[in-house]
Amino acid sequence: MGIILYIGKNKEITDNIAEITLKNHEVAILNCNSHYKHYIEEYMPDYIILSADTDNYSEISRYIAEKNSIKLIITEKDKLDIDQSGNALQISEPTSSGQIKEILNIIDKIDQIEPDNNRKCKYAKQEVLSFYSIQGGVGKTSIAFNTAWYLSKRNIGRILLIDLNFCEGPSDISIRLKVDRLANMSSYIKNTLKGAGNIQDSITNLNNIDIMVPPLSLHQSDGFNLDMLNDLIYSARNDYDVIIADIPFRYDNVSLEMLNLSTSSVIVLSPDISLAPRVVDFQKFLPEKQKKVAILNKVEEGDIQIKKDYESIIGIPVCGQFDFVPKNNRKSLKDGKSVIGLPDMQAGIGQLVDYLF
Ligand SMILES: Nc1ncnc2c1ncn2[C@@H]1O[C@H](COP(=O)(O)OP(=O)(O)O)[C@@H](O)[C@H]1O
Ligand SMILES: [Mg+2]
Repeated sequence: MGIILYIGKNKEITDNIAEITLKNHEVAILNCNSHYKHYIEEYMPDYIILSADTDNYSEISRYIAEKNSIKLIITEKDKLDIDQSGNALQISEPTSSGQIKEILNIIDKIDQIEPDNNRKCKYAKQEVLSFYSIQGGVGKTSIAFNTAWYLSKRNIGRILLIDLNFCEGPSDISIRLKVDRLANMSSYIKNTLKGAGNIQDSITNLNNIDIMVPPLSLHQSDGFNLDMLNDLIYSARNDYDVIIADIPFRYDNVSLEMLNLSTSSVIVLSPDISLAPRVVDFQKFLPEKQKKVAILNKVEEGDIQIKKDYESIIGIPVCGQFDFVPKNNRKSLKDGKSVIGLPDMQAGIGQLVDYLF
């Protein structure tokens, strides 16, 4: 079974070719290209069809050109006036999803590798989403978990929630969700030091959400370094469609690197707009191409106009807000009859998810 990787951002095309089944090739689709190197290394495709309207097209085509074993086909070439890849097949016209399907079928016919019954199409959604803030207690953990919960009810694939709130004793998530505290990141740290980067025995599951909580002591957490985080995200991307990180309000190198590895970031804001300059200063830590959104939490009566005011200062769209809910009215998430110790914010999460996905 050969592999053909399609890289492009036109949703009509990616949705259409996601349905195709070929005899001799598996088709993988990459619609968000910031982590293209990971995916090219991972799939080692025989062919790549690259749409020239991809954001970092030149960089990607140069990278592929160095790999002799990959045959490159470029579509939408009319949008470019420079020739990036000498020996690629170039199609200098806008290319419809029907035409891409035709190309896929032709490749499949002319390049027949041993037949294989295992025909499937892997859709590389590869969302890595980080929640962060510039002050404590604003609702990061509540909103990060509510997002995972919302997605888990909507069949979007496998979800991993990584809790980076390193502390002495169990983290907020392990306390509030009452998950198995012994399945935590310390197993991953030990496995990695032994040379086996297995993540599954560091993970606990709640309602189809896989959760990795931090080690139970700061001494163990000290063993977690940037290389381990990179390896963790790299291997998690093979197994999960969405990875959500809950980042503490304490910017160690691991938190900053996590933000750097994310395809999207969500800053959780409080209505205290006097802190907005801190948000502005923080932006230098985020990669330029990342999708960035903000969400307001604990908004009270009288906090009018803050959404607009925030947007004009921080330059990031505020894609929703949650009102402050007094203690007596607070509802918790429920899993059947058992109560999960985090507020139920499902009603407002849809808007955030629509914005991000
Ligand atoms: N909209 C809200 N209204 C009232 N209380 C909230 C709201 N959102 C979160 N909280 C509460 O605020 C506290 C801090 O929330 P948490 O999610 O732990 O924040 P962080 O992770 O940013 O520290 C928790 O007790 C949580 O239940
Ligand atoms: Mg928290």
